[in-house]
Amino acid sequence: MTNLAALKQECTAAVEAANDVSALEEVRVSTLGKKGRLTEVLKTLGTLPADQRKEFGAQVNVIKEEITALLEARRAVLNSAALDAKLAKEKVDITLPARAESKGAIHPISQTIEEISTIFADMGFTIAEGPDVESDFYNFTALNMPPSHPARQMQDSFYLASEPAVAGTAEQGEPLVLRTQTSPVQVRTMLSTKPPIRIIAPGRTFRCDYDQTHAPMFHQVEGLLIDESTHMGHLKGALMDFLRTFFRAPNLNVRFRPSYFPFTEPSAEVDIGCSRKNGELKIGEGSDWLEVLGCGMVHPKVLENCKIDSTQYQGFAFGMGVERLAMLKYGIPDLRTFFESDLRWLRHYGFASLDIPNLARGG
Ligand code: DAH
Repeated sequence: MTNLAALKQECTAAVEAANDVSALEEVRVSTLGKKGRLTEVLKTLGTLPADQRKEFGAQVNVIKEEITALLEARRAVLNSAALDAKLAKEKVDITLPARAESKGAIHPISQTIEEISTIFADMGFTIAEGPDVESDFYNFTALNMPPSHPARQMQDSFYLASEPAVAGTAEQGEPLVLRTQTSPVQVRTMLSTKPPIRIIAPGRTFRCDYDQTHAPMFHQVEGLLIDESTHMGHLKGALMDFLRTFFRAPNLNVRFRPSYFPFTEPSAEVDIGCSRKNGELKIGEGSDWLEVLGCGMVHPKVLENCKIDSTQYQGFAFGMGVERLAMLKYGIPDLRTFFESDLRWLRHYGFASLDIPNLARGG
């Protein structure tokens, strides 16, 4: 009859000697597998006299359970040792600071768009985009500016030849225009998305204008929020929070002045408090005002043009000029310099590649 004590000792020693998971698996197969040593012993049960069979079988089963438990425990030890070894091998020293690129810089326009987006992202707005070449419908008509509307003269537009130059941007034969504002992205978003809507749309815009404060191509960020209950108070709160964060001035004075835009009713222009002394502009102090953006409650006609039920839904919209905000925040005196590609200018006003906008720091 097999010496069970010796067998148990040998199996135990084999388990303990296994140095990795595959060696351990071999031990398992050679003890508990189909032809394993303990399995073979169990097979001999039938040859034993009936009076010994029961007790011997019970003893073998106890050993089997003990070895199984030992195998499990050893496997856990080996697995954790293997993980430790892997982690030690893949160790990365994250304390080493990354070096900012010494060549090249982030353009102030890109930086400012990032800053604006970061602040609105924190309020739950997502980014929407639209094409630079727009159809007359999206840029004007849907925004409550039908062909004869005088407000069209507020913006000197660049029109393209009437045949659609870019597939998919216009109905056949509709005049194409370089978008004069980012507001058409509102229309595209409302036509393609069910409310609630909460987007901002940064992008290029074009107008036939060129002087110290106007360029034929410039950037805007549009905002749109549509749901069932948002009102003018929310608009004021959101824009005040935005401006105070953007200009890093928690006590910045913000004023809403009645104004007119065809696509909002009521409409307002927003001014921030500043001082203009000895030709020097300081934001956040003094008793002067400076206009920074336009806004209002989305006109019911615009909602209807965009297939949104104006008896159920309402919301606000706003639009701001990126260059203007960048000039004010970073003290850049001439708009034209943004687009002159002068490397000395970029080195002076540009941002290091790791200067990522950060709300804790104020955008
Ligand atoms: N689209 C306007 C412009 O270019 C800016 C603007 C004003 C956008 C008010 C809006 C708004 O969404 O509500 O002058």
